Amino acid sequence: MRILIKNIKHLYQVEEGPSRKRVVEGADMATVPALENAYLVIENDRIHSFGKMNELSDNQYEEAIDASDSLVLPAWCDSHTHLVFAAPREQEFVDRIKGKSYEEIARNGGGILNSARKLNLMDEEELYEQSLQRLNQVIAQGTGAIEIKSGYGLNTGAELKMLRVIRRLKENTPVPVKASFLAAHAYPVEYKDNKASYLKLIIDEMLPRVAEEGLADYMDAFCEEGFFSVADTEQLLEAGWKYGLKPKIHANQLHYSGGVQVGVKHKAVSVDHLECVGEAEIEALKSGTTMPTLLPAAAFFLGIQYQPARKIIDAGLPVCLASDYNPGSCPSGNMNLLSTIACTQLKMTPAEAVNAITLNGAAAMELEQEYGTIAVGKKANLIITKPMSSLDYIPYDFGNNPVQQMIVNGKVY
Ligand code: NIG
Ligand code: FE
Repeated sequence: MRILIKNIKHLYQVEEGPSRKRVVEGADMATVPALENAYLVIENDRIHSFGKMNELSDNQYEEAIDASDSLVLPAWCDSHTHLVFAAPREQEFVDRIKGKSYEEIARNGGGILNSARKLNLMDEEELYEQSLQRLNQVIAQGTGAIEIKSGYGLNTGAELKMLRVIRRLKENTPVPVKASFLAAHAYPVEYKDNKASYLKLIIDEMLPRVAEEGLADYMDAFCEEGFFSVADTEQLLEAGWKYGLKPKIHANQLHYSGGVQVGVKHKAVSVDHLECVGEAEIEALKSGTTMPTLLPAAAFFLGIQYQPARKIIDAGLPVCLASDYNPGSCPSGNMNLLSTIACTQLKMTPAEAVNAITLNGAAAMELEQEYGTIAVGKKANLIITKPMSSLDYIPYDFGNNPVQQMIVNGKVY
């Protein structure tokens, strides 16, 4: 099956030639390579060829899509979500408006523990159905590859239930899904005074089961004051590595927690959140290949300080942006709105934001060989936008969906 997309106003994030970039970093983030008045041919699930319209010679295709006045881009790659959850938490949103902090709510049994109580009560089928709806919703908003975490189970049965739901999402949706095992999201109430036993439960009981059933790609932990210390995180990451699970961790959201350093030390694929980043964190990031992943929609929704994106980019590092879709700190998986927040609050340019949610997002899930750019042979997961003049319009037109049509796995979605 061949599909031709023709008359594309701008085809963005093109990679010509045989070599493939792993990430876009530093000053290079300011540019998104593009072709004007272009075509793209999809064969089965992959990009077969692309170029300028006046070079189009091939007329062997079953279907043609006219993309006049539209842009075509690689679909967004969202490398950090918690979209498997049982219930929203709008009461906490109201409590925060009235002055309670996120940490205060968590200390009083709300937050992650609130989500865990609800998730424990919900059966797998219902959890799956709800999560599938959310996944379909974000695909319609441009997401074409996604990572999803456990972490609202906080006991063996419920963590496995979440990971099985994620596995079913993997099997039943056309977008690639990566799973992270995040039992170290919060200490359950019954372990409040016996934290070592919860770590032991994760390491000795949950991890072997997760590995045996092949339920996770990554090991995650919330390295933060009041949650998991650097020493706790270190133990967890070492244990994960023994089962071949690479780390992707929550770091430096609320404090200078040492999370970035411990992540880089243990060769994390990414360290995520990063509201608190100083010279020591920058130096650590420069010494490895761990992707700094910023979650500004969560900072927006919690009303906390934003991530210093400029400082990270100006240090020559790559930046990835992800949604953090979850019922507490960010009940939205909308990557378009995320790009607006990155531009207006983090002072990233639209081009930098697009690099951060395409190739760098793919790299933060180790999917950069298959997704994240327009390159011959890569998977055809694409956004065809509504009529617009350039990619600058996507974050500018905030709150609206730029997507006219999604192509997933080479098929119109
Ligand atoms: O990434 N920071 C830790 N975990 C999630 C929030 C989880 C929640 O509040 O339910 C986050 O923001
Ligand atoms: Fe998160």
